[in-house]
Amino acid sequence: MSISCQLLSFGTYVPESVITNEDLTAMVDTSDQWIVERTGIRKRHRLGNAQNASTLGIEAAKASIKAAGIDPASITHVVTATCTPDHLSPSVACIIAGQLCPEPVMAFDIGAACTGFIYGLSICSSILAGEPDSRILFICAEALTRRLNWKDRSTCVLFGDAAVASVISGNPDGAICSLRDVICMSDGRQKDLITVGGGTSCQYQYGDPVGADFFLAMQGRDTYRHAVRQMVNVCETLLRRNNLGINDVNLLVPHQANMRIIEAVGSRLQIDGSRVFTNVANYGNTSAASIPLALAEARSQGLLRNGELVLVTAFGAGLTWGAALLDFHK
Ligand code: ACO
Repeated sequence: MSISCQLLSFGTYVPESVITNEDLTAMVDTSDQWIVERTGIRKRHRLGNAQNASTLGIEAAKASIKAAGIDPASITHVVTATCTPDHLSPSVACIIAGQLCPEPVMAFDIGAACTGFIYGLSICSSILAGEPDSRILFICAEALTRRLNWKDRSTCVLFGDAAVASVISGNPDGAICSLRDVICMSDGRQKDLITVGGGTSCQYQYGDPVGADFFLAMQGRDTYRHAVRQMVNVCETLLRRNNLGINDVNLLVPHQANMRIIEAVGSRLQIDGSRVFTNVANYGNTSAASIPLALAEARSQGLLRNGELVLVTAFGAGLTWGAALLDFHK
């Protein structure tokens, strides 16, 4: 891939309110032990009543603009990855652009669920291929706790809210990391494995009450199986087409859905656990925000240095999945 796609910053925002596993035992028939053993999750953050994906995204975007040291007037595109938008229309990207960009810009949302960060990297590199002078504000913002059925113990223990933004440019000056290559995939035949249904054009007539389909539903076991298989396959394909082996990768940063999935992917790729980054214990699954949140945290812990190669991989509702290689510079 010869297109220059450079990430100049990471800005993160995580809502203050924390729900521990202990808190969940008061809502559903579960235990800290079950959640930790099956998922590795210990706590997650939940947005406040007045917040939504765009308000989380705006805070992350402000932080990323500040960290990149750019003038918001220079932004040409706003792209948001989210599966929990505030509305069907307007898009979260339009709302964020309206708050932060003084001039009109191209703005749109990507719906690739937990693979949103990787789809976003691919789309940003395509924008830069056509318009190399673009400066893109790319935000992953999720408010999944709004669409959880808090009576369903098989899903409500898994997810949390967060937003992460990056300024992306074709110019490598000051870049934190560069996109080397990316693959995005989907298989709509598996569309029923994870759904967040109602509230779209399909289900409701005016005046209908909201039903159970409005909330996230998941076939956990099958999702697990597909997740491991597809993430391993796509990582192997990406490495092979770049003439790389797993030992060339300094850090694997998988989608933070579940510790057991992360361990299974690491083990099948034959990468040592010390080179697999995880923070799922503290945030749960934050969907599109999960990989950039992990990258930002790994970087703040000094784990990503100049010259290091990072492999990221994700899967999500759709089903969607993908992988990307990032060269870190600082
Ligand atoms: N506490 C206690 N028991 C529970 C809980 C809970 N929170 N949830 C389920 N159980 C019970 C089940 O009812 C079942 O009981 P039974 O044997 O009496 O019927 C038992 O635990 C085993 O249930 P399984 O679903 O088979 O448990 P499993 O080991 O598969 O773990 C899990 C469930 C954690 C959901 C796992 O399947 C998983 O991680 N799947 C992938 C999910 C995922 O990562 N999705 C991300 C994509 S989401 C997106 O893209 C927006």
